[in-house]
Amino acid sequence: MEKLTDYEFNGKIVLKNRLVLAPMTTYSANPDLTLSIEEEKYYQARGKEFGMVITAATAISKNAQAFQNQISIKDESYLPSMIRLSQAIKSGGAKAILQLHHGGRMNAIGLYENQDIVSASSVKAERVAAAIPRALLTHEVYKVIDDFRKAMILAIKAGFDGVELHGANTYLIQQFFSPHSNQRTDEFGGSLEKRLTFPLKLVDMAIKTKEEFAKSDFIIGYRLSPEEYENPGITLEDTKVLVKELSLKEIDYIHVSLGSYKQSSIRNPQEQEPVITALKIANIGKKKLIGVGGIESLDEVNDALNLGFDLVAIGMAALADVKVVTHILNNENIKRVIDEESLLPQNMKNRVSQWRNLSSRGFKVK
Ligand SMILES: Cc1cc2nc3c(=O)[nH]c(=O)nc-3n(C[C@H](O)[C@H](O)[C@H](O)COP(=O)(O)O)c2cc1C
Repeated sequence: MEKLTDYEFNGKIVLKNRLVLAPMTTYSANPDLTLSIEEEKYYQARGKEFGMVITAATAISKNAQAFQNQISIKDESYLPSMIRLSQAIKSGGAKAILQLHHGGRMNAIGLYENQDIVSASSVKAERVAAAIPRALLTHEVYKVIDDFRKAMILAIKAGFDGVELHGANTYLIQQFFSPHSNQRTDEFGGSLEKRLTFPLKLVDMAIKTKEEFAKSDFIIGYRLSPEEYENPGITLEDTKVLVKELSLKEIDYIHVSLGSYKQSSIRNPQEQEPVITALKIANIGKKKLIGVGGIESLDEVNDALNLGFDLVAIGMAALADVKVVTHILNNENIKRVIDEESLLPQNMKNRVSQWRNLSSRGFKVK
């Protein structure tokens, strides 16, 4: 059985355990998009348990904002809010990772006046009430990279131990990698290689920003979704190339966003092999791999590690139970009722209480 506590992460950092709080949007920032007291309490509680806490998707600029009451790091004035966030997480001994986010075409419509919803190309997402985005001009793409850079510098100043580039779950970074949303003809689109340009330029920017502004143990992570349902859409073959390229960069981890950590291809249902098996082979630079999706017990943690993940992230199971890591590591049942003691911000609680997959997984909101 794998060792789960005091885990040497990258030769420089020891994590108190190999469990990671999955990034989860809290929908509960103050009206000015600074961290609310409720959110601070949510993170303080989880920081006591997890080895690493990845924050909710945090908007790197005004038009990056995808959700109502999403926390923001759009300019210097958000530094005090971000300091409170990093301190809340670190006060319990967890490493604090800020998830840097731009929603692109997935931004909810009507979040503020004169909203400018942008993407790689002017292609609507295949979902109800999707916006028709405006395609970013080439020089604007460079401006977005610079927005990520400025946000990362603020994250370093705010005392975070690292950042995660949110390249998953259909948001802007993924939109540049996807042949569905990226139909550009400049250096950022066309072939698979060109669709990699934006993600890899962001990663190079992050590495350079770290060299300039952060210590050598500052963590850089990249979250990706291995496949898309759309046609055309990201295939596992595409993602193997992305993972190979990422693994050769000076980053610390690749976070594989999956509905189930052991799932096989969603595009090729006849394929039985778990996605992680293919991605592990593509990970030629041997970066740490974080798995996620449906993990609620010690057996599942060990199964994920045996499949090839190095760290295991927990989302839904961390909503109800503030002692979820203690319970899992002791091989005890987790708490399944979201109540006052769960310290979940009210808007987040309201949102998740409407999600069918919360009840289908056996969680209840009191
Ligand atoms: C309430 C909620 C909010 C989420 N917000 C984010 C987010 O901000 N960024 C992100 O990358 N994933 C987000 N996710 C996805 C989770 O990080 C995770 O990948 C997913 O829930 C599967 O893990 P689980 O089965 O342990 O919940 C969210 C999930 C939930 C339940």
